[in-house]
Amino acid sequence: MDHRLAALSMVLTLLSSYTWTGGGAIPRSLSPTASLVDSHGSTLDPRQLTALQTMGFSSAGDPCTAPSPRDNATACDDDAPFRHLVSLRLANCSPDLDLPTTALRALSTLRSLAFFRCPIAAPRRLPGPLVASLHSFSCTASLRRLTGVWLSRIQNLTDLSVIGVPVVASGPAVVLSQMRHLRSATISAANLSGLVPHHWHAFNLVHLNLSCNRLKGPVPSSISVLGFLQTLDLSSNALTGTLPDSIGDLAALKNASFAHNSISGPIPDSMSQLSALVHLDLSSNQFNGSIPKFLSGMKGLKFLNLENNNFQGVLPFNASFLKRLEVFKVGGNSNLCYNHTVLSSKLKLGIAPCDKYGLPASPPPDRSTRADSSDYSDDVSDDGSGDRGSGGGDHHGPSKLVLGVAIGLSCFVFLVIFLVCLSKLCG
Ligand SMILES: *[C@@H]1O[C@H](CO)[C@@H](O)[C@H](O)[C@H]1NC(C)=O
Ligand SMILES: *[C@@H]1O[C@H](CO)[C@@H](O)[C@H](O)[C@H]1NC(C)=O
Ligand SMILES: *[C@@H]1O[C@H](CO)[C@@H](O)[C@H](O)[C@H]1NC(C)=O
Ligand SMILES: *[C@@H]1O[C@H](CO)[C@@H](O)[C@H](O)[C@H]1NC(C)=O
Ligand SMILES: *[C@@H]1O[C@H](CO)[C@@H](O)[C@H](O)[C@H]1NC(C)=O
Ligand SMILES: *[C@@H]1O[C@H](CO)[C@@H](O)[C@H](O)[C@H]1NC(C)=O
Ligand SMILES: *[C@@H]1O[C@H](CO)[C@@H](O)[C@H](O)[C@H]1NC(C)=O
Ligand SMILES: *[C@@H]1O[C@H](CO)[C@@H](O)[C@H](O)[C@H]1NC(C)=O
Repeated sequence: MDHRLAALSMVLTLLSSYTWTGGGAIPRSLSPTASLVDSHGSTLDPRQLTALQTMGFSSAGDPCTAPSPRDNATACDDDAPFRHLVSLRLANCSPDLDLPTTALRALSTLRSLAFFRCPIAAPRRLPGPLVASLHSFSCTASLRRLTGVWLSRIQNLTDLSVIGVPVVASGPAVVLSQMRHLRSATISAANLSGLVPHHWHAFNLVHLNLSCNRLKGPVPSSISVLGFLQTLDLSSNALTGTLPDSIGDLAALKNASFAHNSISGPIPDSMSQLSALVHLDLSSNQFNGSIPKFLSGMKGLKFLNLENNNFQGVLPFNASFLKRLEVFKVGGNSNLCYNHTVLSSKLKLGIAPCDKYGLPASPPPDRSTRADSSDYSDDVSDDGSGDRGSGGGDHHGPSKLVLGVAIGLSCFVFLVIFLVCLSKLCG
């Protein structure tokens, strides 16, 4: 019971807080008797106040008039005579915080609910009225563990974000298939297994991020029905197969990452139709075939990462195209070479120059200790380790290694935070 009271006072103090920033400012040791002082005269819907009062509190503050400095904790609509809470963000909660169904029911005017580093237990069910009201649900390193079925009930969502929370489901389809209004869906670092969904119902999807999970199987050709898709991040999974030709139908695609999977085969010719592309990351897969010249015709392209694959032949790019890119990586492709009459070795591309037949020039035996010699070696072509693209010399090698490690770590950082919080709770 003490826990429950402490938890309630936490929620209620949050609601009444005039200064809470969503960060370190949340009080960590509240007295269970803390009550909400309404010094300004509340304009909050009395139903919400009543709900709070029935839980043992005599008055409540008005979060609607509270200035929300940085991390907006609350937002209200402008209804008269009473305003309603429409947005609530709980950040850095005490692990003791509990969310009683009655409190959640009282908050069922919320359109947006966010948890950020709140290692509390997920409510067993969100009350129906709250579910019907929610358009945005975000959970980052919070609620310990969610199930696909739990998430799938929040059907009216336009924005779903679950990051660094294990989601137990047979696949993303369990979560997504009932959500027809989704515009943005992120389920990342969620230990999610299964296949990339084959049947889509959220035809307005603009952002899809299923990165850092354990998804397997191919990228389905049905992904092309998502005609408004601008962001597609499937990086750091265990995807296999080839990219479908239908990918060229994603006409709005700006940011695509398939990095860190086991996708093979060529870059589909249809990708030449992706004229809006800004960011393309195919790194650390098993793509093969030649690198298509059409990539250099993409006017908006700024980021192109093709490193650690099995591309072959002559790199079809000239210096003016490479200069236009902010990031270009192509190292770690042992059968790929650059034409040294077109591109300078000073560009340190991490691949060998071509011989006159368009094959990577073999390193002379007496120079085999040169930094970039490893890129010519067949022995390393399959191992995908982060330092394979380091042929550019001393400046590039370590930084690429560091970057690789950083990317790897970032995929798990949320889960680690989550587990630390969990262990504190249990200990
Ligand atoms: C915070 O609230 C103000 C006004 O209510 C709004 O203009 C601003 O965009 C909000 N900031 C965030 C990060 O939501
Ligand atoms: C979604 O919203 C509609 C009203 O816009 C409501 O009738 C329906 O019950 C909601 N769905 C769920 C699952 O709550
Ligand atoms: C996908 O989500 C992860 C969070 O785990 C984030 O780091 C990454 O930037 C997101 N991808 C895109 C394209 O926004
Ligand atoms: C991830 O899922 C597997 C089974 O699907 C399970 O054994 C493992 O404990 C999960 N890891 C976490 C951190 O939840
Ligand atoms: C594309 O996504 C990556 C993360 O995968 C992110 O770092 C980058 O800023 C995004 N670029 C654009 C143009 O959205
Ligand atoms: C690419 O790899 C596949 C096997 O993964 C192979 O069948 C195909 O012939 C290769 N293509 C080229 C151009 O090497
Ligand atoms: C470099 O390549 C681009 C795209 O293929 C092309 O439009 C441009 O004319 C080339 N520039 C030079 C100097 O060859
Ligand atoms: C390299 O470029 C030059 C000039 O464009 C061309 O004559 C030569 O055939 C190219 N070499 C290879 C191997 O493609």
